[in-house]
Amino acid sequence: MDLYEYQARELFAQHGVPVLPATVVSTAEEAYQAAADLLAAHPGIVVVKAQVKTGGRGKAGGVKIAKTAAEAQAHASQILGMDIKGHTVHKVLIASGADIAEEYYFSILLDRAQRQYLAMCSKEGGMEIEQLAVERPEALAKVAIDPLRGIDTEIATQILLAAGFNAQQQEKLLPVILRLWEVYTAQDATLVEVNPLVLTKQGEIIALDGKVSLDDNARFRHQEHNQLVDKRTENPLEAKAKALGLNYVKLTGGQVGIIGNGAGLVMSTLDVVAYAGAEYQVGPANFLDIGGGADASVMANGLEVILHDPEVRSVFVNVFGGITACDQVAAGIVQALEILGDKATKPIVVRLDGNNVEAGREILAKANHQLIIIEPTMDGAAAKAARLAAN
Ligand SMILES: Nc1ncnc2c1ncn2[C@@H]1O[C@H](COP(=O)(O)OP(=O)(O)OP(=O)(O)O)[C@@H](O)[C@H]1O
Ligand SMILES: [Mg+2]
Repeated sequence: MDLYEYQARELFAQHGVPVLPATVVSTAEEAYQAAADLLAAHPGIVVVKAQVKTGGRGKAGGVKIAKTAAEAQAHASQILGMDIKGHTVHKVLIASGADIAEEYYFSILLDRAQRQYLAMCSKEGGMEIEQLAVERPEALAKVAIDPLRGIDTEIATQILLAAGFNAQQQEKLLPVILRLWEVYTAQDATLVEVNPLVLTKQGEIIALDGKVSLDDNARFRHQEHNQLVDKRTENPLEAKAKALGLNYVKLTGGQVGIIGNGAGLVMSTLDVVAYAGAEYQVGPANFLDIGGGADASVMANGLEVILHDPEVRSVFVNVFGGITACDQVAAGIVQALEILGDKATKPIVVRLDGNNVEAGREILAKANHQLIIIEPTMDGAAAKAARLAAN
C-alpha cells in the first residue's frame, strides 16, 4: 500500500525523523484556518501541497507557496479537485515553509532482483530523481544493504561518503538516515523516499516530502496500518476480494473474468485471453488465483466477485488439477453455481486438465448447467470466452 505524503510524514514524526509542522485538510476554509494557525505559531510562509499518490505534484501545479492565510485558501480551492495524472486531489497538506539552503535525496527500497535492500542518496535532490539517474548517474550513490545487517552507523557513513557529503554534512545527516532506516524496518516498508531532504539556512536537516510504501504481506503485524487505507480510492471489487481472502487484481478495460489455480497459470491465462481477444478488442478483466487447495466455497467466492464486475461479460475458469484434483474443482464449480443461484448470469467457459480430468468433465457434463461451457484446450477456451465477451 502506497501512503499519502501526510501519512508518511506522520510515520516519520513517530520515529523521530525531523518534519515541519503541518495540517491535512479537505476544504479551502479549513486551509485558511490551518494556515492562520501555522503562520501565527511560525511566522513566514506556508506551503499548500496536493495529496495524491503520484509524483511530480510540483510540476503539475499542486505545490504552492502562500504568505497569508487568504492566499493559502485561494491556492487550496484551486488545488482541491484538481486532476494530477488521473488522481483527483481530495486533500491538501498545509505545511510550514522551510528556509532551504540545500536539497538532497535519500531513499531505501526493496531490490527484489538482488535479494537485498538498496539505499540511494544524492546531494542533488528536489528535481526528478529518475532524470538525474539517467543524465548523471555518478551523482546518485547506490549502496546495497544486507538485510540481515541493515543500516548501522558504519553503513550510513558509507552511503553518505558515496554520495560525496563532507564531514560536517555527514554528521548532520547520519542520525536522520538511521531514523529513516528505523521507519523502513519498524513499519515493514518496501519504500521510504525523501525528496527533498533539506538543509535549512538555520543548519537543520528536515524531510520536506515523503513517499512510503508498506508491505501488505506484513499487515498482520500492524493493525494500526488498517486505518491508513483510503476507502475512497480503493477498488470496491478488490476490497471485496480482499475481505474474502482472495488473490484478486482488477484489470481495467477487460471483459473476460479469469479464475485459475496457481499464479503462473493465471498469468499465462491472461496472455492467451489477451491474444485471443485482440481481434474483438476484448481482454482479461482481472487476475484471480484461487490457489492449490481451493474448495467449493473459494470457487463460489471467486465467481461471486467476478460476476459482480459490471465490465465482465464472460468468465474463463482455467484449472490444472494437481493436489486438488479436477473432480473436486468441478464439484466446486457446480456447488458454487448452486450457492450463487440467480446471481450467476454470465457464461462460464471451463477448461480442466491434469489429475482426474475425466471425472471432472463428467461431473460438469452431468450437472448440465446452462451457463457452463466445457472446452478441452486452453487456447480453445480462451477463444470461446473472448467470442462470448465480444457478442
Ligand atoms: N515546506 C516547504 N517549505 C519550502 N519549500 C518547500 C516545502 N515543501 C516543498 N517545498 C519546495 O517544493 C518542491 C517540491 O515539493 P515536493 O518535493 O513536496 O513535491 P514534488 O517533488 O513536486 O512532488 P512529488 O514528490 O510528488 O514528485 C521542493 O523541492 C521544495 O523546493
Ligand atoms: Mg518531492
